[in-house]
Amino acid sequence: MAFWTRRKPIEAPAHHQELKRTLSWPHLLALGVGAIVGAGIYALIGQGAGMAGPGVIVSFAVAGAVCACAALCYAELATMMPASGSAYTYTYSSLGELAGWIVGWALILEYSVVVSAVAVGWSGYASGLLTGWGVDAPQMIQFGEIAGQALHFNPLAVFIIFLVAGLLILGTRESAWINAVLVVAKIAALILFLVIALPAFDIARFTPFAPFGWGSAPAETGGNIGVMAGAAVMFFAFYGFDAVSTAAEETKNPGRDLAIGIIGSMVICTLLYMAVGAAAIGAMDFRAFAGSGEPIAHIVRDLGQPQAAAIIGGVASIAIPTVILAFLYGQTRIFYVMARDGLLPRSWSRVHSKLGTPIFVTILTAVVTSVLAGLLTLGEIASLANAGTLAAFIAVAISLMVLRQREPTRARPFRTPFAWVVAPLAIVGCLYLFSSLNAGTIQRFFIWMAIGIPVYLAWGAHQSALAKTT
Ligand code: ALA
Repeated sequence: MAFWTRRKPIEAPAHHQELKRTLSWPHLLALGVGAIVGAGIYALIGQGAGMAGPGVIVSFAVAGAVCACAALCYAELATMMPASGSAYTYTYSSLGELAGWIVGWALILEYSVVVSAVAVGWSGYASGLLTGWGVDAPQMIQFGEIAGQALHFNPLAVFIIFLVAGLLILGTRESAWINAVLVVAKIAALILFLVIALPAFDIARFTPFAPFGWGSAPAETGGNIGVMAGAAVMFFAFYGFDAVSTAAEETKNPGRDLAIGIIGSMVICTLLYMAVGAAAIGAMDFRAFAGSGEPIAHIVRDLGQPQAAAIIGGVASIAIPTVILAFLYGQTRIFYVMARDGLLPRSWSRVHSKLGTPIFVTILTAVVTSVLAGLLTLGEIASLANAGTLAAFIAVAISLMVLRQREPTRARPFRTPFAWVVAPLAIVGCLYLFSSLNAGTIQRFFIWMAIGIPVYLAWGAHQSALAKTT
């Protein structure tokens, strides 16, 4: 077998420690909604509305439907191979080492960039809250210029990234009950928003419904506009459900619980997002909140409810960092698994002797994501994270079909319904959303990939654990 097609065995390696099976579907639903609801709905919705107009509710439906197809594919693979590493591991086992590496490399991009995007989204709310307390806390400080390009620094985003990284280094894992409280708070704040926004609802604000068209076209001011351009960006608000699949080894009845956890959290979020999107557009001309760093609080404040705006801002400021925690943790896990497989230097999987946490990769991620937070806008960072995620989702859907062919009799505690329709739909949907991203994002993604393949050829192809045993 050629080196790039060698495959990781599907069975969990013998040295895997058996984790206690303590979780069932309500825990997984909380885990999923906890990782999904974050900067996407709280902050990015402003930019999504600015790109799509009132049609942003269709953007939500399209992004949610594509994500649901991918989620169904995830559920089958996660229950079939309950091993760490999610899409990277599934691809490595089904499509071979090079494809696995490419997905791992895309996941590194996704996880880091999500951390950065959520930190920038959080900074909008934190800055709004501080301003309310009379503290002037700018979101962006310009500190220089290179070739006419302004260099910025987002002090609040850097602060939250290092705070969360510090907690992770000290060994903090989100405790199940804190997560549950924060999930309830995040949802309750959005319901409070609905209660305040709905009485101001005016259907006339939905006309014209798609002022920038239904597709995705470059705007004169940069970036893309249109309902599908909005879907490609708002897709950001939907992922995180893969966090559920990482809990597969700790789930009591994976076949049932994991499926309910993944699909249930997608359905809840899609419905909630569409309701929030419709209420926002109905309550206020979308242009009025499109540029806001804290659109949900902004609308409520403009509707004459400053106290409710402060509550929403407070909840967002406390709850959004849990998404950073989930993705920063996921990032260190991906590094850990890839380093354990020998595709990254093994020293990267080393954990601190006393704290038991991977300090080096955590600080490395924190530094890189802090720099990104100052360089690009929220929309640009979120789009880049989407590119990495869409690539990983495509690989998962392909892996599902390949394994259905190659290993038809292997036990599948959860079988994706209508797999031969759902998996191709996931692939086509993800490709379509990918092509709806703006040209700059697609270019950045391919530059990242163009760096990744030589890295694999120079290192992983010779150093991988499989290279040493096959
Ligand atoms: N879905 C996550 C968020 O919106 C990444 O923050």
